[in-house]
Amino acid sequence: MAKDRAHQALYDGIAQIYDPWSRSVVEDVDFYVEQAVASGGPVVELAVGTGRIAVPVAKAGIAVIGVDESPEMLAGARAYAESEGVSDLLELRQGDLREPPVTERVPLVVIPFRSLLHMPDETEKRRAIAAAASLLEPGGRFVFDVFAPNAEDIEETDGIWLEREPGIFERADWDERARTLTLSVRSAEQSASFTLHWLSAPEWNALIEDAGLVAEELYGWFDRRPYEGGEDQIWVCRPQH
Ligand SMILES: C[S@@+](CC[C@H](N)C(=O)[O-])C[C@H]1O[C@@H](n2cnc3c(N)ncnc32)[C@H](O)[C@@H]1O
Repeated sequence: MAKDRAHQALYDGIAQIYDPWSRSVVEDVDFYVEQAVASGGPVVELAVGTGRIAVPVAKAGIAVIGVDESPEMLAGARAYAESEGVSDLLELRQGDLREPPVTERVPLVVIPFRSLLHMPDETEKRRAIAAAASLLEPGGRFVFDVFAPNAEDIEETDGIWLEREPGIFERADWDERARTLTLSVRSAEQSASFTLHWLSAPEWNALIEDAGLVAEELYGWFDRRPYEGGEDQIWVCRPQH
Protein backbone atom coordinates (compact mmCIF):
# COMPACT_ATOMS: atom_id res chain seq x y z
CA MET A 1 0.00 0.00 0.00
CA ALA A 2 1.84 3.12 -1.17
CA LYS A 3 1.53 6.14 1.06
CA ASP A 4 0.32 9.43 -0.36
CA ARG A 5 2.79 12.31 -0.47
CA ALA A 6 1.14 14.10 2.44
CA HIS A 7 1.81 11.15 4.73
CA GLN A 8 4.97 11.48 6.80
CA ALA A 9 6.37 8.02 7.45
CA LEU A 10 7.81 7.47 10.94
CA TYR A 11 11.42 7.42 9.82
CA ASP A 12 11.30 10.15 7.15
CA GLY A 13 12.30 12.64 9.84
CA ILE A 14 15.55 10.83 10.73
CA ALA A 15 16.48 9.22 7.42
CA GLN A 16 19.55 11.49 7.04
CA ILE A 17 20.90 10.54 10.48
CA TYR A 18 19.76 6.90 10.62
CA ASP A 19 23.11 5.50 9.44
CA PRO A 20 25.33 7.46 11.85
CA TRP A 21 22.77 6.86 14.65
CA SER A 22 22.83 3.07 14.12
CA ARG A 23 26.55 2.87 13.24
CA SER A 24 27.37 0.68 16.26
CA VAL A 25 24.70 -1.90 15.38
CA VAL A 26 26.75 -4.45 13.44
CA GLU A 27 26.25 -7.66 15.39
CA ASP A 28 23.33 -8.87 13.27
CA VAL A 29 24.75 -8.29 9.77
CA ASP A 30 26.76 -11.51 9.33
CA PHE A 31 23.90 -13.54 10.83
CA TYR A 32 21.39 -12.29 8.25
CA VAL A 33 23.92 -12.57 5.41
CA GLU A 34 24.54 -16.22 6.39
CA GLN A 35 20.77 -16.90 6.48
CA ALA A 36 20.43 -15.35 3.03
CA VAL A 37 23.33 -17.26 1.50
CA ALA A 38 22.03 -20.55 3.00
CA SER A 39 18.58 -19.87 1.50
CA GLY A 40 20.03 -19.27 -1.97
CA GLY A 41 17.70 -16.27 -2.36
CA PRO A 42 15.99 -14.21 -3.43
CA VAL A 43 15.27 -12.66 -0.06
CA VAL A 44 12.45 -10.31 0.91
CA GLU A 45 13.41 -7.84 3.65
CA LEU A 46 10.39 -6.12 5.17
CA ALA A 47 11.20 -2.71 6.71
CA VAL A 48 14.46 -2.59 4.75
CA GLY A 49 15.35 0.93 5.89
CA THR A 50 18.58 2.29 4.40
CA GLY A 51 19.82 -1.17 3.44
CA ARG A 52 22.00 -1.79 6.49
CA ILE A 53 21.32 -5.54 6.08
CA ALA A 54 20.07 -5.70 2.46
CA VAL A 55 23.22 -4.22 0.89
CA PRO A 56 25.62 -6.68 2.59
CA VAL A 57 23.24 -9.49 1.52
CA ALA A 58 23.35 -8.21 -2.06
CA LYS A 59 27.14 -7.95 -1.83
CA ALA A 60 27.14 -11.68 -0.99
CA GLY A 61 25.48 -12.22 -4.38
CA ILE A 62 21.90 -12.74 -3.15
CA ALA A 63 19.05 -10.77 -4.75
CA VAL A 64 16.90 -8.79 -2.30
CA ILE A 65 13.45 -7.25 -2.59
CA GLY A 66 13.29 -4.55 0.08
CA VAL A 67 10.02 -3.03 1.28
CA ASP A 68 9.70 0.06 3.46
CA GLU A 69 7.03 2.68 4.07
CA SER A 70 9.52 5.54 4.21
CA PRO A 71 10.52 7.11 0.86
CA GLU A 72 13.40 8.86 2.61
CA MET A 73 14.80 5.62 4.04
CA LEU A 74 14.40 3.94 0.64
CA ALA A 75 16.35 6.80 -0.96
CA GLY A 76 19.16 6.04 1.52
CA ALA A 77 19.06 2.35 0.57
CA ARG A 78 19.18 3.23 -3.13
CA ALA A 79 22.24 5.44 -2.61
CA TYR A 80 23.98 2.82 -0.44
CA ALA A 81 23.37 0.07 -3.04
CA GLU A 82 24.71 2.33 -5.80
CA SER A 83 27.82 3.20 -3.82
CA GLU A 84 28.51 -0.52 -3.25
CA GLY A 85 27.82 -1.45 -6.89
CA VAL A 86 24.89 -3.79 -6.12
CA SER A 87 21.88 -1.82 -7.41
CA ASP A 88 21.08 -4.66 -9.81
CA LEU A 89 20.60 -7.05 -6.86
CA LEU A 90 18.44 -4.78 -4.68
CA GLU A 91 14.89 -3.96 -5.76
CA LEU A 92 13.21 -1.42 -3.51
CA ARG A 93 9.46 -1.04 -3.15
CA GLN A 94 7.53 1.45 -1.05
CA GLY A 95 4.75 -0.10 1.00
CA ASP A 96 3.46 -1.29 4.33
CA LEU A 97 5.00 -4.47 5.68
CA ARG A 98 1.51 -5.73 6.60
CA GLU A 99 0.49 -5.59 2.92
CA PRO A 100 3.80 -5.86 1.12
CA PRO A 101 3.76 -5.11 -2.61
CA VAL A 102 5.36 -8.47 -3.37
CA THR A 103 3.87 -11.20 -5.55
CA GLU A 104 7.03 -13.31 -5.66
CA ARG A 105 7.43 -16.35 -3.40
CA VAL A 106 10.87 -16.68 -1.83
CA PRO A 107 12.90 -19.05 0.37
CA LEU A 108 13.63 -16.37 2.99
CA VAL A 109 11.77 -13.39 4.45
CA VAL A 110 13.50 -11.31 7.12
CA ILE A 111 12.50 -8.47 9.43
CA PRO A 112 15.73 -7.42 11.18
CA PHE A 113 16.47 -4.88 13.91
CA ARG A 114 13.27 -5.12 15.93
CA SER A 115 11.11 -3.56 13.23
CA LEU A 116 8.11 -5.75 14.13
CA LEU A 117 7.93 -3.84 17.41
CA HIS A 118 6.52 -0.92 15.42
CA MET A 119 3.30 -2.93 15.19
CA PRO A 120 1.20 -1.47 17.99
CA ASP A 121 -0.72 -4.53 19.16
CA GLU A 122 -1.10 -8.26 18.71
CA THR A 123 -3.59 -7.85 15.86
CA GLU A 124 -1.13 -5.81 13.80
CA LYS A 125 1.79 -8.08 14.72
CA ARG A 126 -0.30 -11.07 13.64
CA ARG A 127 -1.04 -9.34 10.32
CA ALA A 128 2.64 -8.61 9.77
CA ILE A 129 3.74 -12.19 10.53
CA ALA A 130 0.96 -13.60 8.33
CA ALA A 131 2.08 -11.30 5.50
CA ALA A 132 5.66 -12.55 5.86
CA ALA A 133 4.46 -16.18 5.96
CA SER A 134 2.40 -15.67 2.80
CA LEU A 135 5.56 -14.78 0.84
CA LEU A 136 7.37 -18.03 1.63
CA GLU A 137 7.80 -20.78 -0.87
CA PRO A 138 7.42 -24.35 0.51
CA GLY A 139 10.23 -25.06 2.95
CA GLY A 140 11.06 -21.36 3.27
CA ARG A 141 12.10 -19.53 6.43
CA PHE A 142 10.95 -16.35 8.14
CA VAL A 143 13.61 -14.83 10.41
CA PHE A 144 13.18 -11.82 12.67
CA ASP A 145 14.56 -10.36 15.87
CA VAL A 146 12.87 -8.49 18.70
CA PHE A 147 13.64 -7.60 22.29
CA ALA A 148 12.02 -7.30 25.68
CA PRO A 149 13.95 -5.14 28.16
CA ASN A 150 15.23 -6.10 31.58
CA ALA A 151 14.86 -3.92 34.67
CA GLU A 152 18.46 -2.72 34.41
CA ASP A 153 17.96 -1.38 30.85
CA ILE A 154 14.95 0.57 31.99
CA GLU A 155 16.59 1.96 35.10
CA GLU A 156 19.76 3.05 33.28
CA THR A 157 18.14 4.92 30.41
CA ASP A 158 14.61 6.00 31.35
CA GLY A 159 13.81 9.62 30.54
CA ILE A 160 17.43 10.68 29.91
CA TRP A 161 18.82 12.27 26.75
CA LEU A 162 22.05 10.42 25.89
CA GLU A 163 24.52 11.42 23.17
CA ARG A 164 24.60 8.09 21.38
CA GLU A 165 26.84 9.26 18.56
CA PRO A 166 28.55 12.65 18.14
CA GLY A 167 25.75 15.21 17.72
CA ILE A 168 23.00 12.55 17.78
CA PHE A 169 20.93 12.29 20.94
CA GLU A 170 18.53 9.53 21.98
CA ARG A 171 15.98 9.35 24.76
CA ALA A 172 14.11 6.25 25.95
CA ASP A 173 10.81 6.61 27.79
CA TRP A 174 9.74 3.23 29.12
CA ASP A 175 6.26 2.23 30.24
CA GLU A 176 6.57 -1.18 31.87
CA ARG A 177 2.85 -1.56 32.46
CA ALA A 178 1.95 -0.86 28.79
CA ARG A 179 5.18 -2.59 27.64
CA THR A 180 6.18 0.28 25.43
CA LEU A 181 9.41 2.12 24.70
CA THR A 182 9.02 5.58 23.20
CA LEU A 183 12.32 6.34 21.51
CA SER A 184 13.19 9.89 20.52
CA VAL A 185 16.15 10.70 18.33
CA ARG A 186 17.43 14.16 17.41
CA SER A 187 20.34 15.97 15.87
CA ALA A 188 20.66 19.66 14.99
CA GLU A 189 18.88 18.98 11.69
CA GLN A 190 16.51 16.06 12.18
CA SER A 191 14.30 14.44 14.80
CA ALA A 192 11.67 11.74 15.22
CA SER A 193 9.89 9.88 17.98
CA PHE A 194 8.27 6.47 17.76
CA THR A 195 6.89 3.85 20.10
CA LEU A 196 7.98 0.21 20.20
CA HIS A 197 5.66 -2.41 21.71
CA TRP A 198 7.31 -5.52 23.15
CA LEU A 199 5.95 -8.99 24.00
CA SER A 200 7.23 -12.05 25.87
CA ALA A 201 8.69 -15.04 24.02
CA PRO A 202 5.57 -17.22 24.64
CA GLU A 203 3.40 -14.44 23.20
CA TRP A 204 5.57 -14.21 20.06
CA ASN A 205 5.42 -17.97 19.74
CA ALA A 206 1.61 -17.88 19.85
CA LEU A 207 1.54 -15.26 17.06
CA ILE A 208 3.96 -17.33 14.98
CA GLU A 209 1.71 -20.37 15.32
CA ASP A 210 -1.42 -18.30 14.52
CA ALA A 211 0.26 -17.43 11.20
CA GLY A 212 0.68 -21.11 10.30
CA LEU A 213 4.38 -21.14 11.15
CA VAL A 214 6.40 -23.07 13.66
CA ALA A 215 9.46 -21.76 15.49
CA GLU A 216 12.40 -23.89 14.43
CA GLU A 217 14.98 -21.96 16.46
CA LEU A 218 14.89 -19.27 19.10
CA TYR A 219 18.30 -17.75 19.71
CA GLY A 220 19.30 -15.33 22.43
CA TRP A 221 21.94 -13.61 20.31
CA PHE A 222 23.26 -13.50 16.75
CA ASP A 223 26.03 -15.99 17.60
CA ARG A 224 23.16 -18.53 17.79
CA ARG A 225 23.37 -19.15 21.52
CA PRO A 226 20.02 -20.54 22.73
CA TYR A 227 17.49 -18.12 24.19
CA GLU A 228 17.54 -18.30 27.97
CA GLY A 229 15.16 -15.54 28.90
CA GLY A 230 17.45 -12.59 28.04
CA GLU A 231 16.68 -9.35 26.31
CA ASP A 232 17.05 -10.40 22.66
CA GLN A 233 14.99 -12.96 20.77
CA ILE A 234 15.99 -14.11 17.29
CA TRP A 235 13.30 -16.29 15.75
CA VAL A 236 13.75 -18.70 12.83
CA CYS A 237 10.34 -19.93 11.64
CA ARG A 238 9.13 -22.27 8.93
CA PRO A 239 5.68 -23.21 7.63
CA GLN A 240 3.86 -25.80 9.75
CA HIS A 241 3.04 -27.90 6.67
C1 LIG B 1 14.79 0.11 12.96
S1 LIG B 1 14.54 0.47 11.25
C2 LIG B 1 15.20 -1.01 10.53
C3 LIG B 1 15.75 -0.80 9.15
C4 LIG B 1 16.62 -1.94 8.60
N1 LIG B 1 15.87 -3.18 8.51
C5 LIG B 1 17.85 -2.15 9.47
O1 LIG B 1 18.03 -3.27 9.96
O2 LIG B 1 18.62 -1.20 9.65
C6 LIG B 1 12.80 0.26 11.07
C7 LIG B 1 12.27 0.47 9.66
O3 LIG B 1 10.88 0.06 9.66
C8 LIG B 1 10.20 0.88 8.74
N2 LIG B 1 8.77 0.73 9.03
C9 LIG B 1 8.13 1.05 10.18
N3 LIG B 1 6.82 0.73 10.09
C10 LIG B 1 6.64 0.21 8.84
C11 LIG B 1 5.52 -0.31 8.14
N4 LIG B 1 4.31 -0.36 8.71
N5 LIG B 1 5.69 -0.79 6.89
C12 LIG B 1 6.93 -0.74 6.29
N6 LIG B 1 8.02 -0.25 6.91
C13 LIG B 1 7.88 0.21 8.16
C14 LIG B 1 10.78 2.25 8.98
O4 LIG B 1 10.52 3.13 7.90
C15 LIG B 1 12.25 1.91 9.15
O5 LIG B 1 12.94 1.99 7.92
